[in-house]
Amino acid sequence: MKKVTTSSLLKLKQENTKITALTAYDASFAKMFDEQGIDVLLIGDSLGMVLKGDDDTLSVTLEDVAYHTRSVKKGVERAFVVADMPFMSYSTPEQTYLSAAQLMRAGASMVKLEGGSWLLETIKGLNERSVPVCGHLGLTPQSVHVFGGFKVQGRDDLQAENILEQAKQLEQAGIQLLVLECIPTELAAKISQNLRIPVIGIGAGAQTDGQILVMHDMFGVSANYMPKFSKNYLQQSNNMREAVSQYIQEVQDGSFPSDEHSFN
Ligand code: KIV
Ligand code: NA
Repeated sequence: MKKVTTSSLLKLKQENTKITALTAYDASFAKMFDEQGIDVLLIGDSLGMVLKGDDDTLSVTLEDVAYHTRSVKKGVERAFVVADMPFMSYSTPEQTYLSAAQLMRAGASMVKLEGGSWLLETIKGLNERSVPVCGHLGLTPQSVHVFGGFKVQGRDDLQAENILEQAKQLEQAGIQLLVLECIPTELAAKISQNLRIPVIGIGAGAQTDGQILVMHDMFGVSANYMPKFSKNYLQQSNNMREAVSQYIQEVQDGSFPSDEHSFN
């Protein structure tokens, strides 16, 4: 079995094959997702919400993410493992390098940061220090209190232009993967077409290069609420392995997300 790498992910985009991704936080689920053929597993700071039961992701610490990364890593043979940098763990380039080192040592093959132009120097520095980076634009949950709630981003032309511009800058700075969260389908499609690197969407329509869901949402067991863009795959199969396999299939054949799970 060939491991998923940054180059195989790029190849999937070039071949027009959708990339499948899920969050994972422990070895058992990571192993199950890996066995079903998921391409990317993210140790998301969403763990603050789905594991701890908080209203947002701000209480998550670097040690929290490192702990869950060590667990996930043990369950994975094939999938590419990405770890989230939590709130305030990347406030300066120097702090970022030390934080990223902890996550890479815990078993991540890439770290993910939320934000645009203010991160360009940080991203360049991480690359120079051998750390691959995933960007994250649109609804970046660590900024929930700046946004005034979990709201769709990029709805007006100026905002949309700004997100596209930031995506290009991030690519230029050296990110090798980009997550777009809760933006209109049309904007996500345009960004995916304009970038060479793979773009993974969540609440960003079906025209990105891949999809990610929070695993608890995909099983319909999230503690707080179910976002509009998520789908409960246990509703149609009643078996966890089949649910995961169905999710992977629907992402690959383009039937998920449908309009019902997207923003226009
Ligand atoms: O924390 C997380 O789970 C994420 C995904 C929703 C992309 O960042
Ligand atoms: Na996250």
